[in-house]
Amino acid sequence: MSDLLFATNNPHKLREVQDIIGNEFRILSLKDVNIRDEIPETCDTLEGNAAQKAWYIHEKSGLDCFADDTGLEIDALDGRPGVFSARYAGEGCSFDDNIDKILRELSGLSNRTARFRCVVCLILQGLEHFFEGRIEGVITHERKGRDGFGYDPVFLPVGHLQTFAEMPTYLKNGISHRGRAVSKMMKFLRKA
Ligand code: IMP
Repeated sequence: MSDLLFATNNPHKLREVQDIIGNEFRILSLKDVNIRDEIPETCDTLEGNAAQKAWYIHEKSGLDCFADDTGLEIDALDGRPGVFSARYAGEGCSFDDNIDKILRELSGLSNRTARFRCVVCLILQGLEHFFEGRIEGVITHERKGRDGFGYDPVFLPVGHLQTFAEMPTYLKNGISHRGRAVSKMMKFLRKA
């Protein structure tokens, strides 16, 4: 089994990706390789940030690795929070602060369509490769469910009756932006 280092400090993402990849590869966390840095994320595109995170960790570790960057794009907000999804309500804000802000901004609006878009950058033998996954949905009027993280309690994927936070993880992973992007990476790795 090959090792692949996942450049993230987010334990929720690590768990999701380990579940998606299963036993085909062993996913190493930054803890496993003793890297405790804040990873820089200063670009203004998902592609740019995913590459910045992956190259930063590749240069520190010397290992093949990948990183993801995700944005929630809300149509009525002209695609915001997008690449600013993590700190939408300000520096040091919580997931709840971010949700409160989008619910406030959408209040009274009937168009609540949105999508999660995830870009994975894989550094394999010194070369970068990109994979994208997206899932369309709507923003609910209130929080529903306790699982997941981030905006999951207010994201209802199209064709489903449960928000991401109400679904069992395997169901979220089967349809999510991250699940789709990581599955594309797996397909590529099987042939590499
Ligand atoms: P990141 O920059 O890729 O870490 O993601 C930015 C922000 O998007 C995170 O802080 C979360 O608030 C949100 N986010 C990323 N992935 C998900 C997800 O799968 N569900 C809900 N929110 C997410």
